[in-house]
Amino acid sequence: MEKLLANQVALITGASSGIGYGVAKALADAGAAVVLNYHSHAEPDEKLADEIEKAGGSAIAIHADVSNPAQVANLFEASRARFGGIDIVVANAGLQKDSAFADMTLDDWQLVLSTNLTGQFLTCQAAVKEFRRRGPTTVSKALGKIICMSSVHEVIPWAGHVNYAASKGGIQMFMKSLAQEVAPERIRVNSIAPGAIRTRINQDAWDSQAALDKLLQLIPYRRVGAVEDIGKAAVWLASDESDYVVGTTLFVDGGMTLYPGFSNNG
Ligand code: BGC
Repeated sequence: MEKLLANQVALITGASSGIGYGVAKALADAGAAVVLNYHSHAEPDEKLADEIEKAGGSAIAIHADVSNPAQVANLFEASRARFGGIDIVVANAGLQKDSAFADMTLDDWQLVLSTNLTGQFLTCQAAVKEFRRRGPTTVSKALGKIICMSSVHEVIPWAGHVNYAASKGGIQMFMKSLAQEVAPERIRVNSIAPGAIRTRINQDAWDSQAALDKLLQLIPYRRVGAVEDIGKAAVWLASDESDYVVGTTLFVDGGMTLYPGFSNNG
């Protein structure tokens, strides 16, 4: 059977670890050629690109800081030079710099907003321009597909993380407004909002039994997510299987957004 994303090219920002790495692997497994963007650590993506190529796929690892316009432009240019065009863009790069509100430095506020929100602005703007430049293809019904990596914290307030929650709350309206603007051109823009997915970013929340027990109280489905859970959602949202899905946030969170605190109370 032909793979779901055969003959398509996907660019994933922040692909060197965690959810971005898992999504990149899943898109490659589904048959897409992948551009693996990294910021600080080249090695995981160079290794993954190598593995994908050895398995018969196509992949390239490219450095760029997504908050830097020139570097984002270079990322798209290098992708174009290698693959000719791009069909799928996953604006994933993001980070946390947590602290109590009164102690939060302006640097920590700005770093999180410029990576998580401005980074998605620059990535998506380059994506829209690239889809327009390349024009329609026969590999997908859409001119292009964009997936914004959001979080349950686009709707769940998060004390001690106002910079992160503000960035993800921003992504909610950013994604919807962009989706509305470019849908007439058959560009589909959607978000995935992961809950607690087992990665380095939230290691403190699951690597001791006490922390894990506490975390599971917030997840009605009573398991911590895996990057593969997000990878599968990304493959579907990137494929024509979801061709009528436009401007939606797909929550992949084991029910974390179901107000679990109310299951026995209220
Ligand atoms: C955060 C994680 C957190 C999860 C659920 C994610 O967006 O990056 O640190 O575990 O939301 O709270």
